[in-house]
Amino acid sequence: MTPAGTGKIAVITGAASGIGHAACRRLLESGWTVFGFDMARDRLEAVGDGFAVFQTRFQPVVCNVADAASVDAAFARAGETINALVCCAGVLRTALLENMALEDFDLVLNTNLRGTFLCAKAALPALRHAATESDPARVVLLSSLAALRPKIVSGAYAASKAAVSQLCRVMAAEWAPSGVLVNALAPGTVDTPMVRAMADPAQSKGYRPSGVSPVGRIAQPDDVVDVMMFLLSDAARYVTGTTIPVDGGTQAAFIPPGSP
Ligand SMILES: NC(=O)c1ccc[n+]([C@@H]2O[C@H](COP(=O)([O-])OP(=O)(O)OC[C@H]3O[C@@H](n4cnc5c(N)ncnc54)[C@H](O)[C@@H]3O)[C@@H](O)[C@H]2O)c1
Repeated sequence: MTPAGTGKIAVITGAASGIGHAACRRLLESGWTVFGFDMARDRLEAVGDGFAVFQTRFQPVVCNVADAASVDAAFARAGETINALVCCAGVLRTALLENMALEDFDLVLNTNLRGTFLCAKAALPALRHAATESDPARVVLLSSLAALRPKIVSGAYAASKAAVSQLCRVMAAEWAPSGVLVNALAPGTVDTPMVRAMADPAQSKGYRPSGVSPVGRIAQPDDVVDVMMFLLSDAARYVTGTTIPVDGGTQAAFIPPGSP
């Protein structure tokens, strides 16, 4: 049975795949109304079909997060009150820096960094409108383990995610007085189409995902969504400006090759 709506409203970018898709499902199951933004119209329509059981509580909106006019139009659809913004839209392009095409560098920075900035800025008035003293509005950004421990062959991606984590800190400090909490998640390898694409050597260009963590597996999208739900919950009412690793211990200690 579809749960009754809570009246809470979220915008989730990157809604048509991977972590964003899993985040939409979880919030819908928890009774939220979700505006799912993505630039992939066909996949977004398919996602909307899959969420038909939630009826009008899922609203797909085609949006290119790197384009200011597209972002403004999408947030106009979402309305004047937004309790939570979750920024999952992102791209990974790989190459040794000396070989990286400028258009790939720009795509990564424009999507991951500029897109996050544009969406957070566009959402802010509606987040402030929703915020109350006892229930602050929330922003959850998708950084990456790459922000904390970069790897070769993904330098542009690592730079974009380090910048997202820094945006998170400054947004948190600037926006806390008006009741908007901002945090970021830093997943290690998550089983999504973004990572699966790296199995193709033509796309990976030598990039190797971090792979299995000390916990003994790679993450599933719901491992990340569980921590996102904490950040959206009352339990996180005094948490802001952090980047939380969700990496099964991958960055905790270096494990030399050949170790037991
Ligand atoms: N999968 C991982 O291992 C991993 C690890 C750390 C961080 N992340 C981050 O998590 C987020 C989600 O990643 P994922 O693995 O679910 O990826 P994914 O490729 O499965 O999904 C990303 C979605 O973003 C959308 N998108 C891309 N550019 C867009 C744009 N300009 N405008 C609107 N939508 C756009 C895509 O169409 C896609 O639906 C990304 O920011 C990614 O960098 C992923």
